[in-house]
Amino acid sequence: MNKKVTINPEDATEASLNCYSETPAEHDLVPRPADFDFSGDIPKYWQGEAFATRMLDALQLGFPDGERMFIHSVRNYSSEITDPVLKEQVKQFIYQEAQHGIGHTDFTKTLVDQGLPVEGVVKVIKSAMMAFKKTPRKYQLAATVAAEHMTASLGEFLLEDDNNILSNAHPAMKAFYMWHAVEEVEHKAVAWDLYESVAGGGYFTRALAMALTYPVMIGPLTLGTMAMLKADGELNVKELRKGAKTMFGKNGIWRKTFPAVMSFYKPGFHPWKTGYPESFHVWKDAYKESGDMVAAMEAVENAS
Ligand SMILES: [Fe+2]
Ligand SMILES: [Fe+2]
Repeated sequence: MNKKVTINPEDATEASLNCYSETPAEHDLVPRPADFDFSGDIPKYWQGEAFATRMLDALQLGFPDGERMFIHSVRNYSSEITDPVLKEQVKQFIYQEAQHGIGHTDFTKTLVDQGLPVEGVVKVIKSAMMAFKKTPRKYQLAATVAAEHMTASLGEFLLEDDNNILSNAHPAMKAFYMWHAVEEVEHKAVAWDLYESVAGGGYFTRALAMALTYPVMIGPLTLGTMAMLKADGELNVKELRKGAKTMFGKNGIWRKTFPAVMSFYKPGFHPWKTGYPESFHVWKDAYKESGDMVAAMEAVENAS
């Protein structure tokens, strides 16, 4: 199952704009409400290990404000979109990101209930987003394009690699992350297409945006992970060693996603040029049939 599907240009969407040329034919963005209940028996270290759990917890702390920023940067241009395909995609993009924000805000409440110091990290993220909002709107969108490439690369890693960071996670959390991963892949080219076609964005601005957005994502992630581990009494050499393996080991999240992130710098890059994981459609089809995130996640696991 851990294969990638590449898109034959002949099978791609016949589009009114050049930027759609890589988009798979009959590609659709589906509105799926965030439908999760975190009040059950989810253990504190739901991933199985302290470092990896807290790293993912810290990652998700950035989503609500980050996603609000993505929506804001896309809305800056929404009244100027004339292409009906892009208009519909932008509408669904906004819906999906808003739902992600709702889901992750809900999960953040469970971290607050655990007595974790999330407030300081959220404050840092909020100030970074406020600073982005003060930049020109083309740059705001370029930052979203860069961040969307990172979230899509992470989503593809979670979907295409059977032996990934979520392998032993609690099923409810695995379903939660898999839903977000699928939708990040599903809408991975929306901000890009808007940037290239409506905003008239070019290579230099997006390359600069990636160079600046990457540390803005990594900084609070590191800060949040360390703060939570410290609050847990788990900030020690043993956990940090495990953390180094989780990040930089053979199947490490950084090692697996960094080359994909760097592909953004290739001139002529388009998000669909990297294809999509085989399991992407397994999840989509199973969800379409069941309307259930856990059933969709299990369909991916059973297909592996
Ligand atoms: Fe998202
Ligand atoms: Fe996204």
